[in-house]
Amino acid sequence: MTPLLTVENLKVSFPTRTGLVEAVRGVSFTLGKERLGIVGESGSGKSQTGRAIMDLTPSHARITADRLTFGDTDLLSLSASKRRALRGKRMAMILQDPKYSLNPVMTIGRQIVETLLTHERLSKLDAKTRTLDMLEAVQIHDPERVFTLYPHEVSGGMGQRVMIAMMLICGPELLIADEPTSALDVTVQLEVLDILDRLVRERGMGLIFVSHDLRLVTSFCDRVLVMYAGRVVEELDAAKLSEAKHPYTQGLLSCLPRLEGDQHPLPTLQRKAEWAL
Ligand SMILES: Nc1ncnc2c1ncn2[C@@H]1O[C@H](COP(=O)(O)OP(=O)(O)OP(=O)(O)O)[C@@H](O)[C@H]1O
Ligand SMILES: [Mg+2]
Repeated sequence: MTPLLTVENLKVSFPTRTGLVEAVRGVSFTLGKERLGIVGESGSGKSQTGRAIMDLTPSHARITADRLTFGDTDLLSLSASKRRALRGKRMAMILQDPKYSLNPVMTIGRQIVETLLTHERLSKLDAKTRTLDMLEAVQIHDPERVFTLYPHEVSGGMGQRVMIAMMLICGPELLIADEPTSALDVTVQLEVLDILDRLVRERGMGLIFVSHDLRLVTSFCDRVLVMYAGRVVEELDAAKLSEAKHPYTQGLLSCLPRLEGDQHPLPTLQRKAEWAL
């Protein structure tokens, strides 16, 4: 069976005044109809990997890959307009900073309705009903009111849920969720995870779940990629994270605080230059 997504040797670099920044340095993986977690420290290239798949990288960046396919579609040879048509409809990404990603001068309702009308033929009234239903599905309890608000008028957690609603409204086959629950309190977090989980189980969506939270990823995902300095240093079944072999992953695991047992002082990660080779 063709995987939903195949990424081979993906590289993303940015020319800057002080030289070339290599954000992603040869990432390869495949994704089926499953929940794939990506963990790794800040700056390890998680978001840039997601953005490159979505074609959301700034235009001055250089992107190369030996292969980047979505089902049978070769994304690398696709025109910008065809990729735009895929984005939001068949593949979507919940961006890490929802507040920066929403249009500040358009109400939340209009933004979601517009997303829907760009990709589907339906009446404005139907689009509004679908939008209100979707807002409710992401646990916004007064959708009629939130529909009329501007992004600066909602809280961080609500902005995150609005972004999630906007990305899910067209029912994508592939969803990249970049820290989708970082601004949510634990109960709402669980509800949002439950929505994502149902989409994977019931609709066969493929999910890439980017997070800093090792524990969350282990319990929520099927498989985990561990990134370090722009590369995947380890790939594991989520349930087997404790058997991680790479010293960086082992270091991360040993830094997790535990309820039982005394850990004084908490260990710190001793980085080695060779990890970044
Ligand atoms: N526009 C840009 N110009 C230059 N370098 C950039 C640009 N965008 C990102 N980078 C660099 O790319 C690297 C990877 O960034 P990325 O956002 O993918 O990290 P991340 O793993 O998502 O981190 P975080 O967990 O903090 O979100 C970083 O070193 C970052 O500084
Ligand atoms: Mg990021």
